[in-house]
Amino acid sequence: MTQNTSALAAHFKDVLPAQRILTSAQDLEYYGKDSSKQFVPHAGVILLPESEDEVRSIVAACRKNKLALVPSGGRTGYSGGATAQNGEVVLSLSRMSKVLEVRTSDQTLRCQAGATTEAVRQAAAAAGLCYPVDFASRGSSQIGGNIATNAGGIRVIRYGNTRDWVLGLRAVSGSGEVLNLNGALYKNQTGYDLRGLLIGSEGTLAIVTEATLKLTTPPGESFLALAALDDPQRTLEILAALRLGGWVVNVFEYFERDALELVTDVQQIRKPFRDVHASYALVEVDAGHKHQMLAFQEFWAELLGRGIVSDVVCAENLTQAQELMALRERISESINRRHVPHKNDISVPVPAIPEFLREFRARYKQRFAGYATITFGHIGDGNLHVNVLKPQQQSAEDFFACCSELDECLFGIVQKYSGSISAEHGVGLLKRNYLGYSRSAIEIEMMRSIKRTFDPDGILNPGKLI
Ligand code: MLT
Ligand code: ZN
Repeated sequence: MTQNTSALAAHFKDVLPAQRILTSAQDLEYYGKDSSKQFVPHAGVILLPESEDEVRSIVAACRKNKLALVPSGGRTGYSGGATAQNGEVVLSLSRMSKVLEVRTSDQTLRCQAGATTEAVRQAAAAAGLCYPVDFASRGSSQIGGNIATNAGGIRVIRYGNTRDWVLGLRAVSGSGEVLNLNGALYKNQTGYDLRGLLIGSEGTLAIVTEATLKLTTPPGESFLALAALDDPQRTLEILAALRLGGWVVNVFEYFERDALELVTDVQQIRKPFRDVHASYALVEVDAGHKHQMLAFQEFWAELLGRGIVSDVVCAENLTQAQELMALRERISESINRRHVPHKNDISVPVPAIPEFLREFRARYKQRFAGYATITFGHIGDGNLHVNVLKPQQQSAEDFFACCSELDECLFGIVQKYSGSISAEHGVGLLKRNYLGYSRSAIEIEMMRSIKRTFDPDGILNPGKLI
């Protein structure tokens, strides 16, 4: 049931003090959307709880009054998962941002769901440890949102996704139950992994309030190089050579010429090569026992000699490494500054990447010549971000309407290569109609019945994911 803002706010007057119930147009817009430019926000009211108890009371009030509730973190997502489009109640976890405990004995960190990725990384570092899941949005992305989307980032090839670092969760289900799942246990074989179910569930089953995360020892010295390639096939050859050579790969990223041109222009970063190349691979390895920059340089010299790479630059100091890293990390931000993109975030098995790209380019060029794309991403994980850019003369409305045809073309190819329509950004609103390209009808039906168990009235993030 859609209600106006003051009627909605009245349901929570006994739950939260008035100053933590936001109703201004500015707040409704700010908290009502994520980083996608595709969805128009229309939130009903914004609630800022400060405790799990308050979260539980909000869920109870929503259940009683049959109000749709959108859990909201740092809103750095790109799939509309945290967007309120239909006058929903938005529950922002931004006031629950404390790092509660860091323990060196079992290398764990306990925090509230609204703690930012950066705050968690800093708290771990202060104890001589490391939380290795990291992304460009580290300053604003929140742990609860990272868990809701099983966020990855550029070091997944080395450290895995958020899922690999969550030991325990506390959450409030859509039925209003407080769930305490797995505590700080490294080992617990007592049936279904409900914690695992919540990770990646995009706020449709429960609202995560607290997490116990695993930490690790900080990485040692690393070496970084940017290689120029004429064919994506070369990325597989480089990856194989690195692994044969015993290098531990921390980062293996890819971007095409247009991405480099854009990021250097928007961010005013120096161009790394004199010549323009078709594509680039950014590679970071752990220095490990080799500890010899010379060995790393020799590795690339050999690939140059064999014609696998067309050019290469190895970072010789921290500033240079940061500059090369920015070429990849700031692509997304540069696209957003210069264009209106329609974002895609697919994955295929790593060995299928070159063929997938060839087929996608050929089919795309034939059918959608008027739409420029920028392709980049975590190629070492088989994950590419295909951003389609709105042509200047086309209205945003018409452009986004056309995007479904583009998506169907892309997802058909993804399906052919047994890939996923969303590797890391999540399904949210953006990919909901296409879930069938990656999940069977029976899987989707099972997901729906799991949803009914956690959220019998369907109040949590309705219209997202399934
Ligand atoms: C990235 O890899 O840069 C992020 O997932 C953001 C994006 O895809 O635009
Ligand atoms: Zn990404």
